[in-house]
Amino acid sequence: MKLFMDTGNLRDIEAFAPLGIIDGVTTNPSLMAKEAGEPREILKEICRTVKGPVSAEVIATDVEAMIREGRDLATIDPHIVVKLPFGKAGVQACHALTAEGIPVNMTLIFSPTQALLAAKVGAAYVSPFIGRLDDIATDGMDLIEQVVEIFDNYEFGTEVLVASVRHPIHVVQAARLGADVCTCPTTVIEALFKHPLTDLGLERFLKDYEKAQAARAHL
Ligand code: G3P
Repeated sequence: MKLFMDTGNLRDIEAFAPLGIIDGVTTNPSLMAKEAGEPREILKEICRTVKGPVSAEVIATDVEAMIREGRDLATIDPHIVVKLPFGKAGVQACHALTAEGIPVNMTLIFSPTQALLAAKVGAAYVSPFIGRLDDIATDGMDLIEQVVEIFDNYEFGTEVLVASVRHPIHVVQAARLGADVCTCPTTVIEALFKHPLTDLGLERFLKDYEKAQAARAHL
């Protein structure tokens, strides 16, 4: 499963990119609004840092403006994936941009039918928002299971990108269901590394090594 960072924060991305675990980045207008600086420049730097797919979302809501903005975003860097909000306008714009060879990430997916329609117009990714479904007492992972099954049935090339991830269990569940990508906020990426037994184990190894060294020194 590919791991993307769900952030517009360049420092966070620069901290994790050298580890070799980050395959791409997703942003949205809310995430970009948290960052100081010009969004285009930030996106350019993110692309330079990760050298993988970087989703940049349009603000436009009508078809023609979405297509124009999508084309413009695609000129920032060859790694840019244009993120379009789901809806009739988004689907039509996805159809047009995909035909021009511009990859699209269809966002704000909350049902299997929405995912199916996005795949039919050639979206490179669909982004089901599982955390927001969990928030309203609906099992977000159930949606992932259904979308993975539907895409497998018809061999759609569209990748299932699990979004609105809130904790490491979401990552485990996404991987067990065979999702293509999981995009995580920095806090969740950090949490993926942690296990108290790893810390305790290392502490014990080092103590035992030091004890043995001290014992040798007294021989
Ligand atoms: O990738 C979409 C994601 O950023 C939405 O997450 O936590 O705002 O539901 P959240």
